[in-house]
Amino acid sequence: MELKGIDKQILQKLKESKLTLENIAVSTSDELIRKIEISKKEAIKVIETAQNELGIQPVTALQFLEAEGKRGKITTSSSEFDGILGGGIWTQELTEVAGGFGSGKTQLCFQLCINVQLPFDEGGLEGNAFFIDTERTFSPKRIVEMATYRGLEVEEILENIYINSALNTHHLFSIVDTLDEIIQKKNIKLLIVDSFASHFRSEYIGKERLVERQQKIMQIAEELISLAVKYDLAVVVTNQIMANVEEFLFGSPEEPALGFAWAHRPQQRIFLRKSRGSSRIARLFDSSRMPEREALFYVTESGLTDAPFSSDFYS
Ligand code: GTP
Ligand code: MG
Repeated sequence: MELKGIDKQILQKLKESKLTLENIAVSTSDELIRKIEISKKEAIKVIETAQNELGIQPVTALQFLEAEGKRGKITTSSSEFDGILGGGIWTQELTEVAGGFGSGKTQLCFQLCINVQLPFDEGGLEGNAFFIDTERTFSPKRIVEMATYRGLEVEEILENIYINSALNTHHLFSIVDTLDEIIQKKNIKLLIVDSFASHFRSEYIGKERLVERQQKIMQIAEELISLAVKYDLAVVVTNQIMANVEEFLFGSPEEPALGFAWAHRPQQRIFLRKSRGSSRIARLFDSSRMPEREALFYVTESGLTDAPFSSDFYS
């Protein structure tokens, strides 16, 4: 735990208490005093510092608006899709991309791995990508294809995408635990988990384990959101669902699941579905910023696009 300006002895006590940064940030000073030996003044300082770390200290609406304007967005390569998202995939939040088999979730992830590397004026963040693959569907060949079509330096693009296969949920947690360092060292601006829920679904089977499963999903999602906020990066998780929209990871759109992180920073949720040929429809749910809208885009040889190139028209 890093808490700038807090003295070592207090840090040690916090460490022993096993409280997380989030636990501290949402505590009252009296609660903290009950848990560790610390003065009221120190407790207030610790809580404020934790809130600063997480970016959840109170701000005015004007400051909020200014901060939002400065937040980075990664283009999807479809201006219509970007439009419904308010400019692309935003940093400092977790975006859930849900959809059925072949709806384009992984293709979108590949596209974002390339696009995050683009210059700011081309819709990128001049940063790198970290791809956590739970289904072993990462395809360097497809990245090469997409990057080549756009005239990019293919080798450089590949070198700036870090991939880690997560074998099970335990492994996923342990990968996420090590991300702090690599995010800083390698200028990671996009973190992807494709697919987020698959291991949870296969390991926590049956109705009686549903609550436990949801708790674990929330726990890791909150860790990802902390990283997103702390390092100003975009986090995208995919979620394979049948046509039924209610199967969103974080509760149905009408009834968002509760959680500390969601209370303050609702994540973006996108539902993808197949349409005719190579066309796809993206629908934005549950955004505090944007109305619920749909966009039409295409998955072609070159990656995601607005209007397909002629050769893809009838594919
Ligand atoms: P699951 O992981 O199975 O849940 O699906 P997904 O949503 O991740 O699907 P994915 O992003 O892998 O999309 C697969 C679809 O993308 C295919 O059915 C194709 O329509 C399209 N696609 C993939 N590669 C290419 C390609 O090289 N050219 C074209 N034109 N389309 C492609
Ligand atoms: Mg996929």
